[in-house]
Parts: sequence; C-alpha cells; structure tokens
Amino acid sequence: MADSNNPASQVSFYEQVGGSATFEKLCREFYQLVAADPEFRALYPEEDLGPAERRLRMFLEQYWGGPKTYQAERGHPRLRMRHHPFAIGPKERDTWIKYMRQALDTLQLPPLQDQTLWDYLERAAHAMQNRAS
Ligand code: HEM
Repeated sequence: MADSNNPASQVSFYEQVGGSATFEKLCREFYQLVAADPEFRALYPEEDLGPAERRLRMFLEQYWGGPKTYQAERGHPRLRMRHHPFAIGPKERDTWIKYMRQALDTLQLPPLQDQTLWDYLERAAHAMQNRAS
C-alpha cells in the first residue's frame, strides 16, 4: 500500500523508471521485434505499426502513473475486449512475452524495477490469451 507519509511513495513508478523515454524505448524495441517476424506481424491489422506502438506506450505510461493520454484518446482500456478480434493462443502469447522480455532487457533497469514491470507484463499477457490454441 502507498504510504502517504513516505515522500518516496509520491514518485510514480513511471517517474522512477525514467518517464516517457523509458516507455518509448520499451515499445520501440518491442515493435521492432514484431516487425522483423512476418508470422507474428501478420496478427497486427495495420500496415503501419507506428500507431499500435503509440497505443501500447500510452497505455503503459498511464498504467504506471504517467500521463493519462491513453484514456483521453481511447477511453477505458478494456484490454481483453480489445484483443478479442485477434486470435491469441499460447503460441502468440509466448511470442509476445519473448519479444517483450528482449525489449525490457535493452532498458537495463535496476533488478527490482525490472521485476516489477516484468511481473505485470507477463501476467497481463497470460490474461490476454483468448484462444485455446
Ligand atoms: C498476449 C499477447 C498479445 C498479443 C498477441 C497482442 C496483440 C495485439 C494486437 C494485434 C493489437 C492491435 C494493434 C493495434 O491496433 O493497436 C493489440 C493492441 C493493444 N495491445 Fe496487445 N497483445 C498482447 C498482449 C498485450 C498486453 C499484455 C498488453 C498490456 C499490458 C497489451 C496492450 C495493448 C494495447 C494498449 C493495445 C491498443 C488497444 C487500443 O487502444 O485499441 N497487449 N495487441
């Protein structure tokens, strides 16, 4: 629980890990890996991955206490619902996790911050699976 008497708790996780530059790099690295894998890339409907990269970045920034641009532009995240049109079985989930792990590695965050972000991303990816295979 956040302790309002502890000044450190006033600093969002977003700020602690380096703010927008960190989330920009994470999402850029992730989508470069997506772009380089034709089979996985085929899941993404748009010809330009730039807007998808931006949506993921805005969402993660908001989730970790940064700007609420995602909400302003896209409304309530409803991420499971938004992923439903895309067939995400164990294979797609694991590919997403693999590329996100590689992207996160490029940030070289302190272990505790890395672990915090990773626990969330991995758990969220499992929650987004919507097909048995
Ligand atoms: C489990 C593997 C996953 C796959 C295969 C996957 C795939 C996709 C695809 C194909 C899109 C549509 C691209 C677009 O137009 O934005 C999308 C959108 C999105 N994904 Fe994922 N995703 C996965 C997990 C996640 C996770 C774990 C998160 C968050 C932690 C996430 C966050 C988002 C966001 C924020 C959007 C844009 C939603 C919107 O505003 O329309 N995804 N994803």
